[in-house]
Formats: sequence, structure tokens, C-alpha cells
Amino acid sequence: MRKSLLDISAMHARGEKIAMLTCYDSSFARVLEQAGVDMLLIGDSLGMVVQGHDSPIPVSIGDIAYHTACVARGSESVFILADMPFGSSQVTPQETFRNAAELMRAGAQMVKIEGGREMAATVEFLVSRGIPVCSHVGLTPQSVHQMGGFKVQGRDSAAAERIIEDAKALEASGASILLMEAIPRSLADRLCDAVKLPTIGIGASARCSGQVLVIYDMLGLGAYIPPRFVRPFIQETGSIEAAVKLYVAEVKSGRFPGPEHCYGS
Ligand code: KIV
Repeated sequence: MRKSLLDISAMHARGEKIAMLTCYDSSFARVLEQAGVDMLLIGDSLGMVVQGHDSPIPVSIGDIAYHTACVARGSESVFILADMPFGSSQVTPQETFRNAAELMRAGAQMVKIEGGREMAATVEFLVSRGIPVCSHVGLTPQSVHQMGGFKVQGRDSAAAERIIEDAKALEASGASILLMEAIPRSLADRLCDAVKLPTIGIGASARCSGQVLVIYDMLGLGAYIPPRFVRPFIQETGSIEAAVKLYVAEVKSGRFPGPEHCYGS
């Protein structure tokens, strides 16, 4: 039986770490599920690792829906989370709902939306109409051009406070999970204290309720120099299955991410 949002919240409540990876097709979905991954994210990172673009910006809602359906067909028990790609949530709440509904019809159980308090009304609109939302703060890759590159966020105290206030606003609007990307570990720790939601980190802190990585990064397949937070699990193991099992074990035990995968202030 497929894990539900209640199962994920219960893991957080009992302090069991949540292991999440990105996934874009049915074969990987089957392998990752059998290796013990709890949640699969159909991330708009597929624009880079599957489609060969240099950012997630060209990815469409149709692309995410297609890959979500592939992942749903290849899995039975993992929780499925799908990204709202660039341009699909920066519109009216009503239009965002229509886009999110397309992902839910494809098999998603929750959608992920980048952005802070400016997305709060949209989050509330979706949640009050039955679509669970994971909010994504810190480095939000869809804003790569505004941020001047894929850079660590929240390094100065004003930016850190803004991210904390964003997280509180999103929680108050009904978001069910908070994902934080590429922020200093001290800020990530503060965020984990500031909200009661399950938190998922990538380049954040081992304090988070769970962790996520782009599957192709941890398998050493990216065409770019991997960010600091990527541990190349494949090099330690030699097979995809063993690499994913090790990732799950290291997340569950709290050994990943180590200090070498986190950012200082
Ligand atoms: O698109 C993606 O893969 C993501 C993760 C990096 C969190 O948003």
C-alpha cells in the first residue's frame, strides 16, 4: 500500500528520518522503492539531468505530469511528490490549482512550490481544496537568474530572518512539509526549531526530518561539478542498488549529511 501524508507526518512525529530522492521514470522508481526510499520527488531538476538544459526553467507542467505518471506506474508504496515547474505557480491561485490538479491526476500525492510568503495565499488556496503542499525555501532554482546563479542563500542575518519568517507564513497557510535548499547549517537548525512541520534538507542540516538528493548526482552522472552537499554514494558501493541502500541507511541513522556536506554561515 502506498504511504500517505499521514504516514510521513507520523515518521516525523516519532523521530524517524525520511529518505527522499528525485526520480523521473518507472525503472528507477522500482529500484529506489525496493531499496527503502520513503518519498520520490519528480523534480524540475529533470530539466537539467534528463532534458540537458542548464536550468529548470524550460520544464513544463506537461513534462512533470508525464514523468510523474511514469514514476507512479513503477512504484507501489513510496509517497509521490511532484514539482510545480517555473510559470505554473507564479500565476493566480485558481490557475495554480488547475496546474496542480494535472499533477495529482498523473499520480502525485503532493505538489512542491518554490517561494516564501508571496506564495502563502496560493498555498492556502490549494490546501483548502484538497491538494497538499510542500514549500521550498532557501535556494529556489527557478529564480536562478534573479539570484545570480545557484548560490547559497540566507548567509546574512537579514536574509536569514526573511527565510524564517517565510517558513512561518507558509506553515500558517497550511503547507505540510518544508523543504530547504543550500542554506547555512545554523539557519537550517533554526528553521527546524521555528516550524512544527516535517523538514527536508538538501545542503541544509542533519537536524532536518529527512533529506533529499538528485538521484543522478549521488550516482555521479551529472555533467557538472556536484555541489558540496552531494555525497557520491555510488563511488563507495559500486552498484545503484547498494548506493541507494547506503543513502537510506545514512539518512535514517543521521550520519548523512555530515559537516562536510553542509554550509557554514
Ligand atoms: O527539482 C529538484 O530536484 C528539487 C530538489 C533539488 C529538491 O527541487
